[in-house]
Amino acid sequence: MITASTGSQYAGILGIGSYRPRRAVPNAEILEQIDSSDEWIQTRSGIKERRWASEDETVLMMSVNAAKEALADSGIDPSEIGCVIVATVTHLYQTPAIATRIAVEVGAPTAAAFDISAACAGFCYGVAMANDLVRGGSAKYVLAIGVERLSDITDRTDRGTAFIFADGAGAAIVGPTDEPGIGPVVWGSDGTQHQVISQKESWVEVHGNHNWPHLTMDGNPVFRWASFEMAKAAQRALDVAGVKAEQLDLFVPHQANMRITDAMRRTLKLPEHVKVARDIERQGNTSAASIPLAITAMREAGEAKSGDLALIIGFGAGLVYAAQVIRLP
Ligand code: UT7
Repeated sequence: MITASTGSQYAGILGIGSYRPRRAVPNAEILEQIDSSDEWIQTRSGIKERRWASEDETVLMMSVNAAKEALADSGIDPSEIGCVIVATVTHLYQTPAIATRIAVEVGAPTAAAFDISAACAGFCYGVAMANDLVRGGSAKYVLAIGVERLSDITDRTDRGTAFIFADGAGAAIVGPTDEPGIGPVVWGSDGTQHQVISQKESWVEVHGNHNWPHLTMDGNPVFRWASFEMAKAAQRALDVAGVKAEQLDLFVPHQANMRITDAMRRTLKLPEHVKVARDIERQGNTSAASIPLAITAMREAGEAKSGDLALIIGFGAGLVYAAQVIRLP
């Protein structure tokens, strides 16, 4: 008979942190390379400027900064971290995972560590896995990170993507709690739409021709899918958590497009008092990093506080999505 692991009955997010690159890139700079206008970008996406990483703001550096902030927020000693999960599509090495180096630099050098590829749903996937690892007893505390340097894989001359994607990192410490701090995840995928946000060539195909496999996006089908289907997933996340829209304090969807956020807010019939994340206006779309970046921005603005109930939902390339209700640390 094998002894089964047992963990904490409940888990929650104990600390959150983020790293926002120093350089703000206004729409005017994007317009130097694409045929568009400041007005089009603002009305179609809500973006006024985005953050792009400088050379020293690597995936590792941004992750470590976000993780250290989350650790300090949680009060957990880094040596207690049993697992590091890094959601990213822009650590541009096939192997090894960036998670192992982050584990070393944050002071958890022997933790289990791995990367996951779940695009803009990455942070929510990471939190869902962390929740189950803590509750299943595989780790007492988990560091879940979402980090991207999308500027590295964006074609600056492609007017379908050049204005939208951006860089940054966010992190959460998940650990045991006395009350449920993370609701059941509602997640899934639709691989029939794998091509709508994708790299069109594999590394094997580009080998030798020096072209970079940029990220392409057929934005409008993604826009329609996100606006209609994601509100349903978000509603299901509320239902399975037993939480009513009126009980929410915050709605923090992946910062993909302000219009998608507004469409979801309307469909979910969120009451006026529910504060809605709008970090995209100043930060652009940072994929796996966008939700924790938006949460920390709301905290800094005094819009979010400890104990708030938040509905979070990530969605993107795959297509993949994940939504859950969380209580803020
Ligand atoms: O983060 C991962 C998940 N990603 C998302 O959720 C992103 C989802 N998609 C979007 O946010 C939107 O689709 C975009 C903001 C990317 C585009 O907005 P849209 O309302 O879907 O525009 P569209 O692609 O349907 O294009 C509308 C028009 C077209 O012209 P016609 O055919 O109507 O004459 C495009 O050629 O706008 C034109 N257009 C542009 N015009 C000026 C497309 N890109 C641009 C541009 N500047 N950059």
